[in-house]
Amino acid sequence: MRVLVVGSGAREHALAWRLARDPTVAAVLAAPGNPGLAEIGTTFAVKADDVAGLVALARAERVDLMVVGPEAPLALGLADACAAAGVPVFGPTRAAARIEASKTFAKDLLARYDIPTARFALCHAPAEALAAVRRFGAPVVVKADGLAAGKGAIVATTLAEAEQAIDDLMVRRIFGDAGAQVVVEEYLEGEEVGLTVVSDGERHVALPVTQDHKRIGEGDTGPNTGGMGAYAPVSFVSPAEAEDLVASISAPTLRALAHEGLPYRGVLYSNVMLTRDGPYVLEHNCRFGDPETQALMPLVEGSLAVALAAAADGNLRGTDLRVAPGAAFCVVMAAPGYPGTPEAGQAIGGIDAARGIPGCLVFHAGTARRDGRLVSAGGRVLSVVGVGPALAAARDLAYRGVAAIDFPGAQFRRDLGRASLVGPPRHRVVT
Ligand code: AMP
Ligand code: GLY
Repeated sequence: MRVLVVGSGAREHALAWRLARDPTVAAVLAAPGNPGLAEIGTTFAVKADDVAGLVALARAERVDLMVVGPEAPLALGLADACAAAGVPVFGPTRAAARIEASKTFAKDLLARYDIPTARFALCHAPAEALAAVRRFGAPVVVKADGLAAGKGAIVATTLAEAEQAIDDLMVRRIFGDAGAQVVVEEYLEGEEVGLTVVSDGERHVALPVTQDHKRIGEGDTGPNTGGMGAYAPVSFVSPAEAEDLVASISAPTLRALAHEGLPYRGVLYSNVMLTRDGPYVLEHNCRFGDPETQALMPLVEGSLAVALAAAADGNLRGTDLRVAPGAAFCVVMAAPGYPGTPEAGQAIGGIDAARGIPGCLVFHAGTARRDGRLVSAGGRVLSVVGVGPALAAARDLAYRGVAAIDFPGAQFRRDLGRASLVGPPRHRVVT
């Protein structure tokens, strides 16, 4: 198989790395890719949101499967365009991708099918949203309906902050039309985990439960980021509890989509809050998590390419995809200034030294080659992953890798994985 990976982050590098290890894969191509992806296969200067360009590239390169990393092209209809052109694609249609691209669509679906989610109000005008936040009381969460690069959910600790969020989203439109409608929702307290399932529209295969770390600062302080690190599996969710979570959150969502005439072929990655009253969906995503994927790919056994192609084709039956024993732990190294304006152009060394540590992997995100030298070129720059028999060993390998990398001023968190390594959590997994 010739597989084209769409995207340019560490998530895509990890997917490509894993696909390239698959004996059925003859070549991995990437668009637009990054210097890490260029180590694995040819990269093409076609942007991830250039739907027509990607379809043309897939045809010209006789691609057997396109694997889409980010949500934006799916929301623009990349999977539909591939289907029309006869290009097999792993990723949901535009209509099914609304499970992530439209919070109002997602919340309405969850409510109608009794899938546990925070109480909410769909608001079409600022006055409606202001009334809703006053009714809910602080703390309260205000979410842009549309895609906002992961920044569209504002957790307001006071009513004044909630009112500011409504003004920013609906009146000032800081995320454009994504804020034309908002969801106001009850604040949930608990431990957040990620569920990842590969679905063919009818059947699904679950990957290990993950935990991400969204805040820039240690002790979960400071502004939200795209994710500062992730690990799998989560030790405070037992394998039986993980099955229950998938059965009460992922599976009914996939059935609901199928029932609505939107069979879902792709990855459903769900953020779930484990509260004292049980699990609640915070959001569903129509793609793999980033940085979750960097921790999941080393734990996947069997043929990933065959499984993704089978899911794309609507028939996962007989897949040999399964989960390896052990654990993986990803530490994100970010540029100084992130999540504000990152400083670019910083020389990066030591990647080979880190990769020389057995069980240590390094995936590229915001990097570039300038005059033959590797430099930083984005907010999240590298994902350093440790893979070991247990979580503590995986963590130690990841931090040894980080220590081997020479990247002046890099920001990374030293306290990742606390909830699993130290615990104990304050939630109930099952209702
Ligand atoms: P979302 O984009 O909906 O996943 O929200 C981004 C982040 O905001 C989540 O990962 C949570 O950390 C937080 N969040 C979202 N909704 C809630 C909620 N109802 N209660 C508490 N925190 C939330
Ligand atoms: N890890 C957060 C995300 O991919 O949305």
